[in-house]
Amino acid sequence: MILIDGKATAATIRAELKEEASALIDKVGRVPGLAVILVGDDPASAVYVRSKGKACDELGFKSVTHKIPARTSMQELEKLVDNLNADDTIDGILVQLPLPAGLDSQKILDRIHPDKDVDGFHPQNMGKLTLGLPGFRPCTPAGVMVLMKRYGLSPNGKKAVMAGRSNIVGKPLAMMLAANDPNANATVTMCHSKTPDLKKECLEADFLFLAIGKPKCITADMVKEGAVVLDIGINRIDSGLVGDADFEGMKHKVSAITPVPGGVGPMTIAMLMVNTLYAYKLRNGLPADLAKYGIA
Ligand code: GUN
Repeated sequence: MILIDGKATAATIRAELKEEASALIDKVGRVPGLAVILVGDDPASAVYVRSKGKACDELGFKSVTHKIPARTSMQELEKLVDNLNADDTIDGILVQLPLPAGLDSQKILDRIHPDKDVDGFHPQNMGKLTLGLPGFRPCTPAGVMVLMKRYGLSPNGKKAVMAGRSNIVGKPLAMMLAANDPNANATVTMCHSKTPDLKKECLEADFLFLAIGKPKCITADMVKEGAVVLDIGINRIDSGLVGDADFEGMKHKVSAITPVPGGVGPMTIAMLMVNTLYAYKLRNGLPADLAKYGIA
């Protein structure tokens, strides 16, 4: 069984990016800049936002975090996004989700300039993903694609099951897996809460992608012998963080699996750095390409 080490892979990617970026920074005379907007005081979101700032520091990028109260109005939030859209020192803008109740996430995401949309959540970038055109790709799905590539686990020609249909993970990852690309080319089934027989679908998967959000809900009897399991679930239980897969139960049955924590999670921030550098290249007229990282 191959244990897919996302923590180590993410560190390698950050080191590679640091080197790539430093040559560009010398040429352009300005560092890449990322602005993160954190609304309210959700503790998990605060942890993620801190990690994003730390990754920027490590790579020598500028990072600005706007922490604003949960009772902020849509108008104030829109004004902040407008200011960041107009700020030439900022290449990427990220609004940490979920937003507190009462704020319209999609309206805010739509307001981010598509060229600064490092989350890839703007309809224009989601459209480009669907059409197979170059553009920002959402960070967590991109991280999954890069992990598979780096471990030589190719879904090309294989049966993939995507459990989950969120805009952040399930939908974009299903599109990326089905893309006409040598690193993708999977036959994809998307499952969700109304799928009549999830076990039956999962048992057919050569590659199983889990983004359900229920601790250890996919058990060994639900996976095919020798399957590759990418667990994107992050569930907090009394004993700590666990994924959607019953890792201990299935680890001897699968051929490769990501642990939680230390699997897909750390890749998200590494991909945010990839996207921030991609935005910086686009905004400075430099050649920019995500395919070289293995992102379809
Ligand atoms: N919340 C959970 N995942 C993400 C993500 O990838 N981006 C943003 N902005 N918020 C999130």
